[in-house]
Amino acid sequence: PTLVVLISGSGSNLQAILKAIQTGRLQARIAAVISNRPDVYGLQRAAEAGIPTAVVDHTAFANRDGFDETLQQQIDSFKPDLVVLAGFMRILTPAFVRHYQGRMLNIHPSLLPLYKGIHTHRRVLEDGGDEHGVSVHFVTPELDGGPLIMQAKVPVLPSDSETSLAERVQVQEHVIYPQVVKWFVEGRLKLEGNQAMLDGNAL
Ligand code: GRF
Repeated sequence: PTLVVLISGSGSNLQAILKAIQTGRLQARIAAVISNRPDVYGLQRAAEAGIPTAVVDHTAFANRDGFDETLQQQIDSFKPDLVVLAGFMRILTPAFVRHYQGRMLNIHPSLLPLYKGIHTHRRVLEDGGDEHGVSVHFVTPELDGGPLIMQAKVPVLPSDSETSLAERVQVQEHVIYPQVVKWFVEGRLKLEGNQAMLDGNAL
């Protein structure tokens, strides 16, 4: 199965998926890594792994539709079975999302539906929460609102900073994302209506 991975920055989730492929745990091929920002470390990670890269720079487009149309053309040129948003920091238009619905995943650093949006670690600390985590979901037009597939929880410690909390969450990101991608490429994970299904059972 063919993956296209979209990034905007470090690409640590890309790296986790890459490692699962390289160790033979995940039987898939990353056809391309596409970033909306040039010069991000995730592009270097891809290049070092011999994976084709592309940049579709959103600042070069007058509007969101123009960007999404170009991005879609780039993605479709690789004919992916699955599009993986991995630290991709763009809100996608409903038309783009509908084109990939059922074969596009996202990872979000919170226990959705809590803390949609950005700066999740900071917001949890500000609220004095004692639990946080990460969610992997199918992408639907509702921002950070798609059907949940898998979550992982971490404790919030009194000594936590935004950085220490983010690091604890990222450890779990790098566990659950490769697992969810594996389920999908094995044909076990499907989106049925607005419900994620694993082996025919509602998640
Ligand atoms: C991570 O917190 C991820 O959950 C979010 O973007 C951040 C950076 O991800 N989507 P990565 O290191 O670029 O994969």
